[in-house]
Amino acid sequence: MLVHIKDILKDSAKGGYAVGAFNVHNLESVLGVARAAMRAKSPAIIQVSEGAIKYMGLKPVTHIVSTVAKNIAHQVPIALHLDHGKSFNSVFECINAGFTSVHIDASDLPLDENIILTRSVVEVAHPKGVWVQGEVGAMIGGHGRMGGKLKGIPMAKPDEVVKFVRETKVDTVAAAIGTAHGVYANEDVNIGLLKEIKTRTKKPFVLHGGSGVDLKKIKAAIGEGVNIINIGTDIKVAFCTTLIKQCAENASETDPRKLMSPTIKAVEDVVYNLMGVFGSAGKAHFEEIET
Ligand code: G3H
Ligand code: ZN
Repeated sequence: MLVHIKDILKDSAKGGYAVGAFNVHNLESVLGVARAAMRAKSPAIIQVSEGAIKYMGLKPVTHIVSTVAKNIAHQVPIALHLDHGKSFNSVFECINAGFTSVHIDASDLPLDENIILTRSVVEVAHPKGVWVQGEVGAMIGGHGRMGGKLKGIPMAKPDEVVKFVRETKVDTVAAAIGTAHGVYANEDVNIGLLKEIKTRTKKPFVLHGGSGVDLKKIKAAIGEGVNIINIGTDIKVAFCTTLIKQCAENASETDPRKLMSPTIKAVEDVVYNLMGVFGSAGKAHFEEIET
């Protein structure tokens, strides 16, 4: 079922687990996440980037996610979220389309400009009941990038995060604490920094760059209060490696469904395993909805 993100998070904060926010890029990845959520009996956040919206169209992706949530993931809570919205306009369009949560990512601007833009989003989102995620300390790397070591992963400054949260009134906060977008050998989670940010902001914390991070470190971060973990690259890789293999092994196939079906299962399996790691498996409320 489609729910407001706040209904997913209130239970995770009490239950000591994190909810995965999974980036989707097409119908197959939406189905993969929905089936994993049903199999794991887990809540899930389905998130789309501006790139995914450009590819699928805002209305189509909104309808695909809500229809799949209602009809495939009908026994588990699913929330729809905009990931890394870079401008007021793109965030505003998602608010009007019915998203219950939007991320305004102005983290590459100077702090004061980040605060002004983020606060302007909060001012239009909150009267409509929409939650806003803000970000301090830009993440490096790139979605889908694989391998090697990054030269110096930047860390957010706690004083800046505290000022940002206080002055913007965001509902959830993301900050650079050692992870990166993509998969790299030297990703880490700075637990001390996370603890300080959590204690001083008392806000739900979103860990970006979840792919490629040592699962023990992920679990330690959840123990210190990470509430949402973003996963993008793992899904892209599962989808693409499976599709490439299918095409190579069935070069004369003319039915797209035969080539694509295994990609749904590949995404489902990756997401299902992560739901176990995040502790969200088994935490869904089973309330049937009217369809
Ligand atoms: O916003 C999305 C993420 O932070 C995904 O990062 O590609 O490293 O999983 P990832
Ligand atoms: Zn991210």
